Amino acid sequence: MTAQRTRRQFLHDSMLAAAAGVATVPMFSGRSRAQGTSPNDRLLCAVIGCNGRGGSHIDEYCERKDVEIAYIVDVDEKVGQKACDSIEKRMGRRPKWVKDMRVVFDDKSVHFISTATPNHWHALCGVWAMQAGKDAYIEKPISHDIPEGSALVAAAKKYGRICQVGTQCRSNPAVRDAMQFIADGGIGQVNLSRGLCYKRRKSIGALGDYPIPAEADFDLWSGPAPYKTPKLTRQSLHYDWHWQRLYGNGDSGNQGPHQTDIARWGLGLNRHPNSVIAYGGRLGYQAERNDPAYVDAGDTANTEIAIYDYGDKCMIFETRGLSVDNPADIHITTMFDSTKGNKIGVIFYGTEGYLVQREYTHCVAYDLKGQAIREFKGGGDHFGNFLDAVRSRKAETLNSDAFQGHLSASLAHLANISYYLGESNKVSVSEAKAVLEEVASRDQNIETLNRTVRHLKDNGVDLDKYPMSMGPLLTFDPQTEVFTNSDAANKILHREYRPPFVCPTADKV
Ligand SMILES: NC(=O)c1ccc[n+]([C@@H]2O[C@H](COP(=O)([O-])OP(=O)(O)OC[C@H]3O[C@@H](n4cnc5c(N)ncnc54)[C@H](O)[C@@H]3O)[C@@H](O)[C@H]2O)c1
Repeated sequence: MTAQRTRRQFLHDSMLAAAAGVATVPMFSGRSRAQGTSPNDRLLCAVIGCNGRGGSHIDEYCERKDVEIAYIVDVDEKVGQKACDSIEKRMGRRPKWVKDMRVVFDDKSVHFISTATPNHWHALCGVWAMQAGKDAYIEKPISHDIPEGSALVAAAKKYGRICQVGTQCRSNPAVRDAMQFIADGGIGQVNLSRGLCYKRRKSIGALGDYPIPAEADFDLWSGPAPYKTPKLTRQSLHYDWHWQRLYGNGDSGNQGPHQTDIARWGLGLNRHPNSVIAYGGRLGYQAERNDPAYVDAGDTANTEIAIYDYGDKCMIFETRGLSVDNPADIHITTMFDSTKGNKIGVIFYGTEGYLVQREYTHCVAYDLKGQAIREFKGGGDHFGNFLDAVRSRKAETLNSDAFQGHLSASLAHLANISYYLGESNKVSVSEAKAVLEEVASRDQNIETLNRTVRHLKDNGVDLDKYPMSMGPLLTFDPQTEVFTNSDAANKILHREYRPPFVCPTADKV
């Protein structure tokens, strides 16, 4: 499709295609049953965005004889050709490489897309795909902001498409069984969960002007985001965009959605929270570089605490990008491995015990004395769950549909909005305490603050020189998805698009 063609025209074509029964889905299912599958029974797919996570998507589909990767889409030709080489070697067929995803949407033979582009492209890619009659596996977070997530939910419904979100823990028996154990009262009444993303994130280098790799089309890479100058302000085109807010959502929106998804699931919450407050900063890199003037190219928080109030339930999410290999952190992580390094997981606090998601495929329940009472283990097949639904057309069998993905991505967006609005509101520790004493789950808030302060000090952060920022407490209407106490927050709820890369709102998909 040319950039000049409108989405309306596109939609019109897609509906005609659907009416004509194009891209009828073959009815075989599963890895083993696919042995000997004839070419006519194969599902044709396009993998869009193939550098890091996209490589895992490719691995998944190469494993399955009932799927053929017909297209590799990547705006970086080097990445795209490398992916094609690898597929040709393994499958004996070379997919077509294209740099513009709209080519795929025009090809009626493609059944589904599987996308691992940067976050700012997820929703538009998914909406375009579904308008064109394709099913979609979309990486987490499925959106760059809240209205984009709603648009995906609406598009899946309107076009009757299968849309799976890449929060793969949802398919792991370890986590599924543990969540069921909580729902069955295994640790009593649970009103609080705490998600942890303690994942070391070093500086991505100084803010500056860096060349764009010759093989990459930066205009297409930027897509819906602003494209003022064909210059990178970070050293690396790939991956490090996670820490620039125009494209990524920080670690709250990167690792975060895996854990907030579980933290919300275990509390049985299928809705947005009533309020959020977040504090933190992008801290510690000056100390790390021994240079007080150092300005890192990232502008998302590397330390962010978010508190979500659901009325009778509460979720806390802690993001730490500095080292956690120090004594201040040990007591919160005793229920995790005693080994040092990343600590990623969720802790549920019940009246009769605790339940901890320690790894993607391992959860443990404890009694109130800290004795393990039950273990949950095992990984699942998230892509297989998606492919089964693609064939059966039963969206209700998806383990992680667009709605769940939307709710969990929104948790990152809500926290970031509070943090961004409060970015210039630098607070001392006692000022932070005064604010947090007034917010729901008060005792937990102060404990969390104290731990965060110790953690920052352990990493050489001088909080007098580089204080944390405190965001406002924002109240949110879970139904209408607007803030009820802040025009400023509503102003940054949705991004401005750069035509023609415009993701429609839910009512216009
Ligand atoms: N589910 C998981 O466990 C998991 C793990 C890692 C990453 N992810 C998600 O996967 C996504 C990708 O992360 P990554 O680390 O691989 O990033 P990356 O920057 O390494 O790779 C992104 C790729 O997308 C390409 N790209 C950019 N715009 C494109 C466009 N318009 N069309 C086609 N290709 C385009 C880039 O050239 C690059 O090759 C992120 O959203 C991330 O959150 C999920």
